[in-house]
Amino acid sequence: MAVLDQLTSQQAIDLENKYGAHNYHPLPVVLNRGEGVYVWDVEGKKYYDFLSAYSAVNQGHCHPKIVNAMVQQAQSLTLTSRAFYNDMLGKFEKFACDYFNFDKLLPMNTGAEAVETALKLCRKWAYEVKGIDENEAEIIVCENNFHGRTTTIISFSNDPVARKNFGPYTKGFIKIAYNNLEALEEVLKQNKNVAGFLVEPIQGEAGVYVPDEGYLAKAKALCEAYNVLFIADEVQTGIARTGKLLAVNHEDVKPDILILGKAISGGVYPVSAVLANNEIMQVIKPGNHGSTFGGNPIAAAVATAALEVIRDENLAENAERLGVLFRKEMQTYIASSQIVTLIRGKGLLNAIVIDDDEDSDTAWNICLALRDNGLLAKPTHGNIIRFAPPLVMTEEQLLDCVSIITKTLKQFEP
Ligand SMILES: Cc1ncc(COP(=O)(O)O)c(C=O)c1O
Repeated sequence: MAVLDQLTSQQAIDLENKYGAHNYHPLPVVLNRGEGVYVWDVEGKKYYDFLSAYSAVNQGHCHPKIVNAMVQQAQSLTLTSRAFYNDMLGKFEKFACDYFNFDKLLPMNTGAEAVETALKLCRKWAYEVKGIDENEAEIIVCENNFHGRTTTIISFSNDPVARKNFGPYTKGFIKIAYNNLEALEEVLKQNKNVAGFLVEPIQGEAGVYVPDEGYLAKAKALCEAYNVLFIADEVQTGIARTGKLLAVNHEDVKPDILILGKAISGGVYPVSAVLANNEIMQVIKPGNHGSTFGGNPIAAAVATAALEVIRDENLAENAERLGVLFRKEMQTYIASSQIVTLIRGKGLLNAIVIDDDEDSDTAWNICLALRDNGLLAKPTHGNIIRFAPPLVMTEEQLLDCVSIITKTLKQFEP
């Protein structure tokens, strides 16, 4: 069959199964079009997207302003590498630094690369500014974290599926319980070699765990007291997803190192970034770090447009308002439900917990039924379903989604 032939869903699935590595377990639905909050499968059925490509498509699918920025830039210059300057990167760096209030930005492509960049930056700062002995730096991370898939990042994961048989692992990480300030203080007190604390302001992949109010602000204060860098991984929570531009903004925290990815490009192009002020970023010198594609002109144009859309369309405010409404509506349902125990989240990053074992297939089956009823979502862990629609959703659409979700859940009530 020719590559451009229109496939049925089954044909597309069969091809992936036969020729693609089996590193994902997708919901069986094959999409070929997206617009705003909607996606369509190859048979023409329309769905609400309630995952947003893991919060990358906050601005909605194929946002015309972002797509136009990409097309226009692609027609004049796509890639120079950083061997030469291009006329887009500096403009984007200034725009993003003003937007997030940092001195400097280091551009990369994927979330995991940006996390790696932040870890390297933190270590180098520790040796050259803080004065830790060479090779002794430790970075504190949290249990049940998700920061990506590289060898170093999975070294400090505690997900056996992500780790097993990928060793030997990278050293230099200390794991503590999430949302536990005593544990953080204990390690800071005991260990003079701590360089940084890497944390997700809400643990997304783990199942949308929202820490106690005040946790982030107090953790930042502890880091300051011990001269340790507070590194916020906002790859999933950032760019208006939780109802503020950044999730740390809920507690007025300014991280020392900020990690962004996913929605910084509106899901149009792989773009990620690490931001920090001069006293930290100055440790990075030519040759220390880089990426052929990082900071390319298309990425710069796309990310600028994507951030403008967030601001111009007030998407943080919309996420906040609709998030409150969504949780209220869902709580009304859950009050008399036998199979959903709770909903938690912030803004439009939410999850429901299904009253079943972690390894049961109830959540998966609910997602299949949601699909049949016109809404796409996916379990994060066995019994938890994440709900994260594009932030361009209207109130009417959200209420329509609530009725699809509750109608579907009723099919599973005893
Ligand atoms: C908090 C967080 N950090 C990092 C990543 C990795 O991003 P990527 O898949 O673009 O490498 C993710 C992806 O889900 C994430 O949620």
